[in-house]
Amino acid sequence: MIDISKAGTFALGGRVVKRLGYGAMQLAGPGVFGPPKDRHSAIAVLREAVASGVNHIDTSDFYGPHVTNQLIREALHPYPTGLVIVTKIGARRGDDASWIPAFSREELIAAVHDNLRNLGLDVLDVVNLRSMFGIHGPAEGSIEAPLTVLAELQRQGLVRHIGLSNVTPTQIAEGRRICEIVCVQNLYNLAHRGDDALIGQLTEAGTAYAPFFPLGGFTPLQSTTLSDVARRLGATPMQVALAWLLQRAPNILLIPGTSSPQHLRENLAAADLKLTSDAVTLLDRIASGTVAA
Ligand SMILES: NC(=O)c1ccc[n+]([C@@H]2O[C@H](COP(=O)([O-])OP(=O)(O)OC[C@H]3O[C@@H](n4cnc5c(N)ncnc54)[C@H](OP(=O)(O)O)[C@@H]3O)[C@@H](O)[C@H]2O)c1
Repeated sequence: MIDISKAGTFALGGRVVKRLGYGAMQLAGPGVFGPPKDRHSAIAVLREAVASGVNHIDTSDFYGPHVTNQLIREALHPYPTGLVIVTKIGARRGDDASWIPAFSREELIAAVHDNLRNLGLDVLDVVNLRSMFGIHGPAEGSIEAPLTVLAELQRQGLVRHIGLSNVTPTQIAEGRRICEIVCVQNLYNLAHRGDDALIGQLTEAGTAYAPFFPLGGFTPLQSTTLSDVARRLGATPMQVALAWLLQRAPNILLIPGTSSPQHLRENLAAADLKLTSDAVTLLDRIASGTVAA
């Protein structure tokens, strides 16, 4: 049995979670739309993640929509003590599977209630406001109005903690003037390092950083250097990509997504993988393009 505690823990919204968590987005159908290809396997992945010690699951009601949260509820409710479910609001899905900004007061309130209902909860542990000024990368724009609505829902007791997703340092500073921000979730992995400076600032502030697409997302990471390092360590490239994130900064929380029990086991086993400083030096060069990508 894999001991994922070896990857350590970090504070997330007043609780302490293991740094190896699970992202549930891949459980919905193709394009994160509709039902899963294999419902039985989706339920099995969620149960195995928690049975293996995962106590941080990332989700949203706009995955499916509703599908991922309903699977989490079916697989895990009543939830074990200590499980932190982080969800996000700020978008809705079109009938054609498109991602549409949903930042109005009515849409944000409805999104919190949709998450509560579909997860079977009275209060959401952590809600990330997902900025939609850019789709896969942050873009400037004020988040004051939607974050003020979310902070109101927090005061009403529907939300314990608030985080931000797909945001710039300016938006994080703006957010901190409105409410406490316990985590940030942006695109980051060993090939996409736009948040290097931001991660340093969040480490100093003690704020959790949960990179999305830790394995490259819809186009999983592919790199000759990554494969070479993995071969030398007797590990898989995905395990090395996760181990690199774990060693990158202590406040990084991993939420790799998979619909496969085999991939889940492989990803959780990264908790036990230590990278030598030579390996880290090589991997660090992938993003700068000074070694073969
Ligand atoms: N805030 C945001 O805007 C945002 C955006 C995207 C995602 N997220 C969150 O971040 C989480 C992680 O992102 P993600 O799931 O999109 O991307 P990811 O974790 O970078 O990669 C997932 C992809 O890698 C594959 N994979 C996973 N483990 C593997 C392994 N061991 N070997 C080979 N392939 C493997 C998966 O396919 P299989 O299913 O076949 O394993 C899937 O295609 C999501 O689940 C979601 O909760 C947030």
